[in-house]
Amino acid sequence: MADVVIAPSVLTADLADLATSCHEAVDAGLEWLHLDVMDGNFVPNLTFGPPVIRSLRAALGDGPTFDAHLMISNAETCFQDYIDAGCDHLSVHVEAVTHLHRLLHAIRDAGAGVGIVLNPATPVEAALEVLEDVDLVLVMSVNPGFGGQSFIPNVEGKVRRLAKAIAKQEAAGGRAVQLQIDGGVKSHNIAKLRSWGVTNAVVGSGLFNKRASVAENLAEITAALQA
Ligand code: DX5
Ligand code: ZN
Repeated sequence: MADVVIAPSVLTADLADLATSCHEAVDAGLEWLHLDVMDGNFVPNLTFGPPVIRSLRAALGDGPTFDAHLMISNAETCFQDYIDAGCDHLSVHVEAVTHLHRLLHAIRDAGAGVGIVLNPATPVEAALEVLEDVDLVLVMSVNPGFGGQSFIPNVEGKVRRLAKAIAKQEAAGGRAVQLQIDGGVKSHNIAKLRSWGVTNAVVGSGLFNKRASVAENLAEITAALQA
C-alpha cells in the first residue's frame, strides 16, 4: 500500500509563535508544511500571506516543502508573491478562479508545483479536465475556513473516482498526481482514506492540539497507518 505524506496544517498551531510550531513539525520528521492562506473574502476567515510566509521560510531554511493552500479570491493576480515568499507548491480553488487552465500553467511556468482544490460540493469533473496540468488534486473534506471541523464522509465517491483517473493517467505514462485530502483527518480515519487512494493527507488539529505534542500525535497517526 502506498505511503501517505502527512502534511501538517499550521492553522490550529499557535499562530502567535508559528515558527516554533513549524519547527516542532519538522523536528518530528514532517517535511511538507501545509500553509492555509485565507483572505476573509473567498472564505470567512483571515490568516496570513506572503510577509508571514517569507519570515517562516527564513526561520525554517530551504528544507521543508511549503504547500500554500490559497483560499483567496485573487490568486490569478498575486500567485507570484507566494512563490517569491518561498512557497514550493500552490494549490488554487477551482471555485475562485476564472481562467483556471491559464493560471495552472502560469504557476508551473513560474517554477512552482501546482494543485487544484475542490470544495465538498464541487464535482470531480472540474479536476478531470485539468488532471494532466497539475501535480496534485486537493479534495476538501470540510468546508474551507476553519480547523477542527468534522470530516464530511460523502467525499468518498469523489476521492475514489479521482484515484482511478490518476492511476489511469499514470499507467498511460501521464503526469504523476498526488491525491491530497484536507479537513477532519485523524488517526481514526487516515488508514481508511489511504484505502480510498489518498496519497497526501493534511492534518491540522490532529497534530496541533493541547492533548499531546506533534511528535506524540504523529506517532498515533503513523501507528494507525502501520496497523
Ligand atoms: C481548512 C483548512 C484545513 C484545516 C485542517 O480550511 O484548509 O487545512 O486547517 O484542519 P483540521 O485537520 O483540524 O480539520
Ligand atoms: Zn488547507
